[in-house]
Amino acid sequence: MLAAVVGSVFLGLGCRTGLLVIITLCSWTCGAHSHHLPSSYVAAVYEHCVALNPEPRVPVSRSAALRHLRQNLQVYSKQAARAALQGAQILVFPEDGLQGFNFTRSSIAAYLEVVPDPQQESWNPCEDPQRHPNTEVQHWLSCLARRHGLYVVANMGSVQPCSGDSGSPCPPDGHWHFNTNVVYRFMNDGLLVARYHKQNLYFEEAFDTPQHMEMVTFDTPFAGRFGLITCFDILFQQPTVSMVEKGVRQFIFPTAWMNQLPLLDAIQFQQAFSVGANVTLLAANIRSDELIMTGSGIYSPSSAMYHHAQRGDPEEGWLVVATLRPLEPLPDTLPVSQVMHKEQGYTEVRWYLSEGWRAPPSFTSCMMHDPFTFVLLPGPGGQLSVCDGSFCCWLQYQYMDSNFTEVYALGAFAGTHTVNGHYSLQVCALVKCAGADAHSCGQEVVEAQTKMDFVLEGTFNTKHVYPSVLSSQYTLEQPTLLHTSAHGTVTIAHSHMRAGLITAVLYGRTYHMDPH
Ligand SMILES: *[C@@H]1O[C@H](CO)[C@@H](O)[C@H](O)[C@H]1NC(C)=O
Ligand SMILES: *[C@@H]1O[C@H](CO)[C@@H](O)[C@H](O)[C@H]1NC(C)=O
Ligand SMILES: *[C@@H]1O[C@H](CO)[C@@H](O)[C@H](O)[C@H]1NC(C)=O
Repeated sequence: MLAAVVGSVFLGLGCRTGLLVIITLCSWTCGAHSHHLPSSYVAAVYEHCVALNPEPRVPVSRSAALRHLRQNLQVYSKQAARAALQGAQILVFPEDGLQGFNFTRSSIAAYLEVVPDPQQESWNPCEDPQRHPNTEVQHWLSCLARRHGLYVVANMGSVQPCSGDSGSPCPPDGHWHFNTNVVYRFMNDGLLVARYHKQNLYFEEAFDTPQHMEMVTFDTPFAGRFGLITCFDILFQQPTVSMVEKGVRQFIFPTAWMNQLPLLDAIQFQQAFSVGANVTLLAANIRSDELIMTGSGIYSPSSAMYHHAQRGDPEEGWLVVATLRPLEPLPDTLPVSQVMHKEQGYTEVRWYLSEGWRAPPSFTSCMMHDPFTFVLLPGPGGQLSVCDGSFCCWLQYQYMDSNFTEVYALGAFAGTHTVNGHYSLQVCALVKCAGADAHSCGQEVVEAQTKMDFVLEGTFNTKHVYPSVLSSQYTLEQPTLLHTSAHGTVTIAHSHMRAGLITAVLYGRTYHMDPH
């Protein structure tokens, strides 16, 4: 319940900036491939209901582990065939989708495979299955890519022996265990083209944080370059935002994400990241009622094709397929997120309140464990602001369709989030309160009827602000980024809601203030 994201530990390790190792198939500045890109490509993500090991903490033999893994691999095969029939050129499976969760270091051992570094060695597991022992999973995935003419991206556990000689770090059992994304390409083969070890672990005792932060990308003939990240990584500077700043515009995101409204529902943050970082995101989540995991999709900065199971839906997998335009590196050498965009004739939104006007009283209520300062929306329309210290948010709104039975509040928070991860935030959030009581503001709400037009604005200490608008029953609405200014003002506008508003958020990440 607490966690917003599964798949990541935070023991003070996650945010460390370690040594930078850049792994890339050609230099970062190389945009040469982009000239010949087709105008569109077809991507698929699969939300997988993973067959679980009922006793994940009990060590098993390799053959027992393989029997379990094959249950999930068989589903992957079926979905790869379906995706290929719909023209998909790349298919993404979720984090932990093969082995599941809650292993210990020793109980996961039988599940792990050595995944060689594709920069050091060219290996096609489908053609050459004997080269490395105990690589049945890689063989299966590689043949899947080859059989269906797809790029296949999957997440698995990998192992790397180490000795600890000469003082280099090495766990006492002599092995690194990594939470690993692997990519196999088709081109009639099944070559392993990329390998990424997750940097920001989330309470995963079976896995180690890599000693060296990796930024891993691979190039495709149909869409150019993709960067690889996993789950909790999406909230951090390293490696995610560093890759954006190096010009990576398309991301692949296997995840096992525990939903938490009002700020971090899976599809809500997937879209927010795509819009805020101006990138494409292919996001595949796990489907599990018990773990509150669902929400997968294919996002461009201006479109979203997604799936989010509703309460009571059968617990089953879901394939999302979408046609996208390749996003090419911006011609500019500026980091993408510093490219400021000024609408013609736009003047900064500031509301001057008439004399004698009294601010509605503010109150504190916890939203996802953080003390937000809120003010209630006073009537069917108007303007208001709320500040947490010197960080302020503004709202201008007009109810379009309402019974006036639903209570809404505008909240601001600036500070360090400390539950299930430590990271620094500046957030403006317009939320529907769970009830009439002010202290219900910030609680999880799934249904709403009130539609409103609004402009939401904040002045942030960071240029990394991720906007989202979520309406009743997990419906995404596309936020219009009106304005971002050099001094940190971010404004979104929204009108013509298709359903009642649950929450509209400007989620600012002040990475530079993260604890180390
Ligand atoms: C993993 O363990 C946690 C508690 O430690 C439990 O809440 C959760 O249900 C477990 N998940 C699975 C898939 O067994
Ligand atoms: C987003 O990227 C597109 C090109 O793909 C560019 O034209 C646009 O200006 C960018 N927007 C922002 C806000 O940087
Ligand atoms: C208003 O309330 C009525 C009765 O409770 C309901 O049927 C209707 O859908 C509500 N409309 C809105 C916009 O809230």
